[in-house]
Formats: sequence, C-alpha cells, structure tokens
Amino acid sequence: MPATAFAHEAAAAKPAAAPQAPARLELRNLRKSLGATAAVNGIDLKVAPGESVVLLGPSGCGKTTTLRMVAGFLQPDGGEVHLDGVLSSSATFALPPEKRRLGMVFQTYAIWPHKTVADNVAYGLEVAGRRRAEIRAEVAAVLDLVQLGALANRFPAELSGGQQQRVALARALATKPSLLLLDEPLSNLDASLREEMRFELRALQKNLGITTLYVTHDQDEALVLADRIVVMNKGRIEQIGTPEEVYRTPATRFVGSFIGIANLLEGEIATVDRAGERVLVALDIGGRVWSRAPRSWLDGAVTGGRATVLLRPQDIELEAAEHPGAEQPIAAAFLSESFLGEHYELKLAAGEALLRVQSRRRGTFADGRAQLWARPGSAWVVA
Ligand SMILES: Nc1ncnc2c1ncn2[C@@H]1O[C@H](COP(=O)(O)OP(=O)(O)O)[C@@H](O)[C@H]1O
Ligand SMILES: [Mg+2]
Repeated sequence: MPATAFAHEAAAAKPAAAPQAPARLELRNLRKSLGATAAVNGIDLKVAPGESVVLLGPSGCGKTTTLRMVAGFLQPDGGEVHLDGVLSSSATFALPPEKRRLGMVFQTYAIWPHKTVADNVAYGLEVAGRRRAEIRAEVAAVLDLVQLGALANRFPAELSGGQQQRVALARALATKPSLLLLDEPLSNLDASLREEMRFELRALQKNLGITTLYVTHDQDEALVLADRIVVMNKGRIEQIGTPEEVYRTPATRFVGSFIGIANLLEGEIATVDRAGERVLVALDIGGRVWSRAPRSWLDGAVTGGRATVLLRPQDIELEAAEHPGAEQPIAAAFLSESFLGEHYELKLAAGEALLRVQSRRRGTFADGRAQLWARPGSAWVVA
C-alpha cells in the first residue's frame, strides 16, 4: 500500500500539533538583500507539522529567495531559520542543505534524462546508503503514490511534462522529508493539466500529512493548496490567513486586488456601528453601503473619516432584494456584457469608477442604466 510508506509521518503530525511541540519551520525576522534590492525584508512565519503553507505574491516579491534560505542554498543577512526547533540558518550559521531533511521540487523538473524513472527516484536513497531491496520497495511504493508505477522503466524523454513533474515529486518524497519545498512546480505545464495537478497535489499532501511550503504567483493554485496563505509584496508579508480569510477579509488593498477581482470604492464614513463591527459608507460615486471592517480599523473609525470598500463582482446585485433603509443603490451606466458560461461578466461605469459585476442572469437595463446594490453582509473595508 503506497500510503503506508508514510504512515509514521502522518501519525507523527497529530501529536506534534500539541502546544509544546516546535514548529516544523519557523522564520524570525528573515532578511536578504540581492544587489540593491531588499528581496526579503523581515519575514516572520511559523509552519506547524502537517500544515500546507503557500507563499503567494507577484513575480519578484521574494518568494524564491525565502525558499532558498529555508533550503540552505542562500545565507540570510539577518534573522533566523529554525527547523523542528533547531537553528538552521542565520547571518553567521548555516546547517548544510543535505542535513535539513528537506524534499524539493522546482519549476524545471531537474530529473536526469539518462536515468529511468525508477533510477531517478532511487538516487536519493542510494546516496543515503540504503539497502538495495529496501530501495526497490520504497521506489515502488512512492511511484504508486504518484501514479507512475506502470512507467518505472521509462526514460524522461518518453514522458509528458506532467509525468516528468510527478517523477520529480516522487524523488522528493522518497527520502521521507520532514518538510517539502515546492517552487512554482506546475508553471511549466499547460493550463488544463496545471488545474488538475493542483487537486492531485493537495490530496497527496493531505493523505501523507506532509508539511509543505509551496511557492506560487497563481492565486487559484494557492487557494486549492493552502491551509494558510502568506501573501507577500516587495519582500514583506501583507497578510497570513486561511484561503477564506485572505479572500473575504483582506487586510490591505494589495491583498484584496491580488486575490480575486476587486472593486475598490472610496467613500466617507456616515455611521459607525461598533457593536455590529460595521460602518455605513457614503461612496464617492454615489450610493451608501453597510460594510464590515477589521476590529483594529474600527477602533479608529469616526463619522466623516475615509474608508475604502471592497466589493467582489459576484456580490453586486442588479436588482434590489431586501435592503436596510440606510443603504442606497449605486447608479451605474451599462458598458458591456460577456457570457462566460458560469455567469455573465458585466462592466458598468459609476462616476469615475469602472465596476465589474458577475451575474447569474442576463442584466436588463432601462435606458442603459442600472441601480446596483451590495449583497447584504458582503462589503468589506480594507485598510
Ligand atoms: N541574483 C540576484 N541578483 C540581484 N537581484 C536578484 C537576484 N535574484 C533575485 N533578485 C531580485 O530579488 C527580488 C526577489 O526575487 P525572487 O525571490 O526570485 O522573487 P519571486 O520568487 O517572488 O519571483 C527581485 O526583485 C529580484 O529581481
Ligand atoms: Mg520565484
């Protein structure tokens, strides 16, 4: 049975979640400059045993640099990397990469073209000095796990891109790493395979209970793969949260617009309802909307102050349902409508703002105008 090869890992993941257990990975105020760039500019993060954490951010935000410091390929300028509670990297200390019990998968498959699938996977076990029979059994188990059992004797050139990436994954898993590091592992695959592989990877990660740090710039990939997402921007962390938290309650404008489509609307606070953790915002483009807001922001909120409201396209309604009396609709002009199968994608103009709306039904517009309402409870203030 493929899963038994990792049974001890999966079992170990549970008691290790007790409070006294050290984080599988901990970054403390990690820093690294490359050339003139502060590539990683003070990062703090804890990854619990069995957890899948995704570093998400645009190209150049410092994801790979962070991962390379975890792996031990790059020494930090400041701060510390701890693995299983043990100091592994600082500005003055570096545990060699091969002593870190890591498995790694990169965008380029980095498998040997002249070795068979089985030999590629066996390599790490041979280096570790394992016995021949043991290696054969381990390789068979791990190839079953990634559904490559039937292709063990093929060479990489005889495999598709997706299969080659599975070989790289099998090789990383074979040595039973304490932490699996993946850097954009699906980026070289075509769109449909990439989409399918994210679900496969997620299922595998959950079944094995393997602690994972996964780097991507693709928000959809992050949403599927993460227990928690770390949103990075310019070498810093903007927010750490579950997929639902970073999507529904983004801490910053950057997070709100990087994950999903965001209508960001400026306005003035008309009423502060602290007990209800919401404010009524009079939007600059017209309309008044109740918007939930983070506690810390609410503490400083005053009537007449400014607010930025996030409205997702699917949370804007073209017809009025039941709405609290204090709310008023946004008057908008129809610009365009596209049919996308699951929904209609509309563009509307309201004052200076271009609004994006997703609607299940085709919109009807009298004289090309519409009254837009926020779905109750959906609006959110970003700092
Ligand atoms: N070898 C290098 N020399 C100079 N600058 C670098 C080098 N490698 C990366 N950088 C810069 O560091 C920043 C972070 O890069 P990187 O960690 O690769 O980002 P990401 O993986 O998020 O795309 C970028 O601004 C990049 O241009
Ligand atoms: Mg990168």
